[in-house]
Amino acid sequence: MQLEMSPAKSIRGKISVPADKSISHRSIMLSALSDGKCLIENFLEAEDCMRTVECFRTMGIGITKDKDLNNAYIVDGKGMSGLSVPKDILYAGNSGTAIRLILGILAGQPFQAMITGDESIKKRPMLRVVEPLRNMGARITGRENGNFAPLEIKGGNLRSIDYVLPVASAQIKSSLMLASLFAEGVTRITEPAASRDHTERMFGHFGIPFTKKENTIHIGKVQNIRPASVWIPGDISSAAFFIVAALIVPGSEVLIKNVGLNPTRTGIIDVLHRMGAKIEIQNETILSGEPRGDIIARSSDLEAVDLSGNIIPRIIDEIPVIAVAAAFAEGVTTISDARELRVKESHRIAALSGELKKLGIKVEEKEDGLIIQGKNKIKGALCYSHGDHRIAMSLAIAALAAEDDVVIEDTDCIATSFPGFEKLLKGLSG
Ligand code: S3P
Repeated sequence: MQLEMSPAKSIRGKISVPADKSISHRSIMLSALSDGKCLIENFLEAEDCMRTVECFRTMGIGITKDKDLNNAYIVDGKGMSGLSVPKDILYAGNSGTAIRLILGILAGQPFQAMITGDESIKKRPMLRVVEPLRNMGARITGRENGNFAPLEIKGGNLRSIDYVLPVASAQIKSSLMLASLFAEGVTRITEPAASRDHTERMFGHFGIPFTKKENTIHIGKVQNIRPASVWIPGDISSAAFFIVAALIVPGSEVLIKNVGLNPTRTGIIDVLHRMGAKIEIQNETILSGEPRGDIIARSSDLEAVDLSGNIIPRIIDEIPVIAVAAAFAEGVTTISDARELRVKESHRIAALSGELKKLGIKVEEKEDGLIIQGKNKIKGALCYSHGDHRIAMSLAIAALAAEDDVVIEDTDCIATSFPGFEKLLKGLSG
């Protein structure tokens, strides 16, 4: 599929964005391990999260769609030892969260399983979870010493470990937190900087005991998890595309309802505020342990920023669209300490630099980030998504403020996180 974008006169209206991807994955996993039926409302019915649903169905968990409620699923949890030997190879598709977190759960199972994913997943590094899970006692094999899927895992009889993560990664942290629930003793997990804390919040919501002081978590084995209902807010990473669209297209104003505002994820708002963006937050509440609220964004005169250090894990998924905002700002924006972008759904540093250049944006690739010159005139161009949903959507946003039409090739990937993106965006553009 390709996405054909024309310049927009303005972006105006009130929308909701699909549910949070990270929380959706975790809601299925914890519900499956709980002792009974859990209702998940406003679940993200995108490819990535449906892969997680399918993986758990393959391990014997009943997951049905509720007939009356919107995007709601009922998960029939079978308890901590209720998963059955998978009938087939588990398939995580494009989802790093699915494969890495499910590996953590499989490490605790007394059976053998195989897990793999699509062409992109097969190139993404898995040793970051495989090594500590092996230290806990899981046997894992795969290409290049278990760094690449397909991976075969035989779990069970786990022991606790004391582990310091080499990078601030919620996927590594969460994989180990899930494995810890099956391990004898108390596991200690330390991050070099704070990454998203949805797993911690969901453990709290399901009543799983653990402690967290600064960036160190202690967790012991649990026998039972009590079932809980979960209501999932909109994904701030998806809202980010519409926020930036409103900021860069003159005469725009967008209200986005019910967006997740977890402080480990709101780096995008902080960064855009620093750039001079007119963004307001309203109606803040907490539901299922997660803050949420409404976001209003209006056209703004943006200024360049320098981004590095602890903010990076808080904006890791939004850097592509921040790069687009930077292209419209006054001055030169520098993004550093973002090496992790090299191992996302695509090599995002190379992908962004290559594609933004096609649009006439002056951008320089660094080993750990990007340098983006502001105030560019955006040309019409033929761009490529690199098979990466966030690159595809970021290019679509830049195209709204282009001087001519932009075509983005290979945009099927948008469905991994944001089904309906094109319709929603085109519905708002005058
Ligand atoms: C995610 C964590 C992040 C993020 C990914 C989702 C999660 O990855 O990029 O889209 O749900 O835990 P890392 O934790 O590996 O940085």
